[in-house]
Amino acid sequence: MQGIHLKKCSFQLIEEKMTNKPDENQESFAIRNTVISRVVEFLKSGEFSYEDAEGECSIMVGASFETTAVTVFSTLTFLAMFPEYQDAAFVELKDVFPNAGDFEVSNDEIQKLVYLDRVLSESLRLIPAIPLIARETSQEVKLSNGILLPKSLTLCLDIFHTHRNKDSWGPEADKFNPDNFLPENISKIHQYAYIPFNKGKRSCIGMKYAEIAAKVALSKILRNYKLSTSFRTEDFVFIENLSIDFAKKPLLELQRRD
Ligand code: HEM
Repeated sequence: MQGIHLKKCSFQLIEEKMTNKPDENQESFAIRNTVISRVVEFLKSGEFSYEDAEGECSIMVGASFETTAVTVFSTLTFLAMFPEYQDAAFVELKDVFPNAGDFEVSNDEIQKLVYLDRVLSESLRLIPAIPLIARETSQEVKLSNGILLPKSLTLCLDIFHTHRNKDSWGPEADKFNPDNFLPENISKIHQYAYIPFNKGKRSCIGMKYAEIAAKVALSKILRNYKLSTSFRTEDFVFIENLSIDFAKKPLLELQRRD
């Protein structure tokens, strides 16, 4: 259903851009250089078919918007469930942003949010927005353990369960604990035991942007509101949508802070 909606949105966006008559003097370089503008350029020049254009737009919106939104929501849910971690995040936020209300968030301020960084990483560990990715072997591949993978084999990389593997994360792997990302703890974890954005050539191109966008949103919400919920760990039932989704949506209560 959401896939169809996304296709429709992309289609509308492309139609609007195609019929717009851009005034070159008014459109800034930044606007002309957006994904949608480049897509329309390629469509007009014939380098892209309509299907290519729609696919590029849907991937960009789906890969960026849904993933970041579900990550911010999961993080808020965990903090509502575990007030002690929310309090620690709030102390840091109050220090960096003394005044509640609407505020700008600079890159320097984001660098100071070390506890929020650990909270976000832990949330991405337990609820990775993209829980499973697939690859197809283009040729026969021999793994370091001697196993031979034939050509044209579809392989799935199970990020969700990799992140909850007790061999890597210990007996409490399923428990939300931002201390997993304390430097002395994370340094002992294998680099491929934590891959919310995957690694290698096809890893997420929006990783840095996503982290910044999520931290800006989280700072503004958590500095201004105290969150609570009756939702418990055992209430989580995950389903696949465009990205990971919840069968039962956690309800959060917000109370204004000074
Ligand atoms: C918390 C947020 C996000 C998470 C967890 C996430 C995760 C991922 C993962 C796991 C992949 C697959 C990598 C692979 O196949 O090896 C991916 C691909 C991708 N991501 Fe992200 N992503 C996020 C946000 C973003 C944002 C904000 C953007 C753009 C601004 C973005 C753009 C993309 C694109 C274009 C791809 C490649 C799609 C493709 O080649 O099929 N992502 N992302």
